[in-house]
Amino acid sequence: MVVTLIIGTQWGDEGKGKIVDFYSKYADYVVRFQGGNNAGHTIKVGKDLYKLHIIPSGVIQGKRGAIGNGVVVDPKILLEEIDVLENRGIKPDLIMDGRANIIMPYHKMLDGAEEAYLKNNKIGTTGRGIGPCYSDKVARRGIRAVDLINESIFKKKLQRIVPIKNRMLELYGVKEKLEIDDLAEEYLDYGKRLKPFVGDVSIEINNAVSKGKNILFEGAQGTMLDVDFGTYPYTTSSHTIAGGSLIGIGIGPNRIDEVIGVAKAYTTRVGSGPLPTELDDDAGRYLQEKGKEFGTTTGRTRRCGWLDLVVLKHSCRISGITKLAITKLDVLSGLDKVKICIGYKCKDKEVNVFPHQSEILNNCKPIYVELDGWKEIDKNSRRLEDLPKEARKYLKFIEKEVGVPIKIISIGADRKETIVV
Ligand code: GDP
Ligand code: IMO
Ligand code: MG
Repeated sequence: MVVTLIIGTQWGDEGKGKIVDFYSKYADYVVRFQGGNNAGHTIKVGKDLYKLHIIPSGVIQGKRGAIGNGVVVDPKILLEEIDVLENRGIKPDLIMDGRANIIMPYHKMLDGAEEAYLKNNKIGTTGRGIGPCYSDKVARRGIRAVDLINESIFKKKLQRIVPIKNRMLELYGVKEKLEIDDLAEEYLDYGKRLKPFVGDVSIEINNAVSKGKNILFEGAQGTMLDVDFGTYPYTTSSHTIAGGSLIGIGIGPNRIDEVIGVAKAYTTRVGSGPLPTELDDDAGRYLQEKGKEFGTTTGRTRRCGWLDLVVLKHSCRISGITKLAITKLDVLSGLDKVKICIGYKCKDKEVNVFPHQSEILNNCKPIYVELDGWKEIDKNSRRLEDLPKEARKYLKFIEKEVGVPIKIISIGADRKETIVV
């Protein structure tokens, strides 16, 4: 029996979907615990490509997927995703916690309105209503999955909330008004379709652990997008770190056996905010093009930079990461020299911990170590020894600096293109 937590260590899109899918073979359950359909997890199996936003990646291998209480759920998107998978011959076996908060149309409208109001200072959100939905949750005026299957409670909640939301939208200059009856009709219908999936994820997963099942917890986003430990305010609105899984599922810390941190061999970010190792040169464009660095959810171009070990150490410390999975090592191939950031120069001071004020970060320059590059990686490599010696040196350098063993190396998008050390 093993409970494995898989999380992103950078700014999201590290390849968590691929690593979760790889491990799903051995799992009985795969559980999402935070975020919503701002996530975009890609899984490639031969010619088949799957892009999942809300359903746990393990369903592709026929495993039971659980959506924990900490997730925010857009019911329309969830139902669409179920339909798309069914049309491709996969009938997802799902449970969704009744406590999960529901993304409503006013959340999406407010997400857009707040971003427009911020103009040049905008966060660059995915526009999926994530921030406004989490805000309502902690302000205790959220609508939860159970409410969608109880007509009278749902209508009462709408009567209380919708007039306030209409006023807020008006303040932001949005002319469109939301009608309670229309919302009730549409969302009660979603509730009917989702009812068979609604249950208690905490009870089911704790029971599964007691029975000795293998369970994967699938993180979304990455540590630097965590609402506390990321580059605030340029973050998402949930806890993307290991601790987020405990409160987003309802499970004790002693139940988790291992924490796998997924790190891209370089760095990418979508949206605004600090990215100390960002490259605006040929090397940056090389990574962007070769890595096909376009967002899975919004299609935006991802900003690219060298690997940042200050970030990686920060992530490993906060989440107690026990193993690293390094992805997209193949993308770094073909360069004469590669760089790794080992600290920052902030004004005259050298800093090797991640500053928690974005304003300080703006005055920091990365300190790099330069290593030799390597030729293209043979996609049939399945052992560490099959990799070019310079690539192995690169990995050794990371392991030594960060102090966490690298146990998985991904050299291509396909499930097969994976090396287990
Ligand atoms: P996630 O959000 O962390 O699951 O990552 P995304 O799926 O958004 O982005 C990762 C992208 O890189 C996807 O298109 C994957 O198919 C692809 N990918 C994952 N691992 C590798 C790898 O080792 N090499 C290459 N070339 N592509 C990879
Ligand atoms: P996965 O799970 C990369 C970013 C957005 C924006 C910020 C806030 O695929 O790694 P939000 O819509 O969450 O309020 O946007 O967070 N962001 C992601 N970036 N990968 C993701 O998910 C992301 N989810 C949100 O671009 O900068
Ligand atoms: Mg993604």
